Amino acid sequence: MTVSAPAKVNFTLDVFAPRGDGYHALRSVVMPIALADELEIEESDDFITDTGYGDDLCLKAARALDSERGVCVRVKKRIPVGGGLGGGSADAAAVLLALNEMRGLGLPRERLAELGAQVGSDVPSLVMRSPVLMEGRGEKTTKLEAPCFELVLVNPGVNCSTREVYAACANRSPDSASPTDAMVAALAKGDFDAVAAALSNDLEAPAMRLHPEIAAVKSALCEAGAERVLMSGSGSSVFALARSREAARELAGEMSARGFSSWATHTLGNNMV
Ligand code: C5P
Repeated sequence: MTVSAPAKVNFTLDVFAPRGDGYHALRSVVMPIALADELEIEESDDFITDTGYGDDLCLKAARALDSERGVCVRVKKRIPVGGGLGGGSADAAAVLLALNEMRGLGLPRERLAELGAQVGSDVPSLVMRSPVLMEGRGEKTTKLEAPCFELVLVNPGVNCSTREVYAACANRSPDSASPTDAMVAALAKGDFDAVAAALSNDLEAPAMRLHPEIAAVKSALCEAGAERVLMSGSGSSVFALARSREAARELAGEMSARGFSSWATHTLGNNMV
């Protein structure tokens, strides 16, 4: 079976104090995007992949579903690796969804999301295949209604260590106003300016301190005409909201001309396959 594995961007990411398990408590609006890996999945006697990663998330996902039934996964990689776009998690989510269908298991999304939580923090959100409010360390997801947004993505070409960026983050106090609440309200209104104003990521400042290249990309995007620019996840990818597909293409072209790896893409709405 050949399936698509869409990446994500975080429109918000509120980071609170670590919980008992060492993971920070999060609140985030996670938006799936059109930029996707393509996976070919077949039943197999073994657990095999061509990604070359020792801790391959595709195989962890297949094992979480059924440790006895092997699978062979080939990945056509289009999502930049280590970029805050959930690339490895997107592949793991796609494996869970595909095997559920191929094997006629009929497991509900909520069960697949629970299994995904054993694989990585971003997997439950990506299994939902919808804009979601993500809470806890990622295991709690609530679907959100949201229009599609045109985006320009830029990869600064540096690899952020998720652990290092979280460790450098000053945790949000539990009673501070939540940027994620403001974003949920802005999305419900479907208002571009309100959404642009509510974009927020607590990991952006620490990631930029660790990797000044991220700040340089943000400046370049603003110089090229972007209105609102934010880092996604724990970095290093940065995205800009655009008001039309044409504006996104123009901005991506301008960034490519300046020597940056950039893509024009868009967020995906609810209930996509
Ligand atoms: O979930 P994942 O394995 O991608 O996380 C990598 C590291 O990022 C964790 O080991 C932890 O140090 C940090 N992290 C965190 N709180 C989260 C998610 C990740 O502290 N909610």
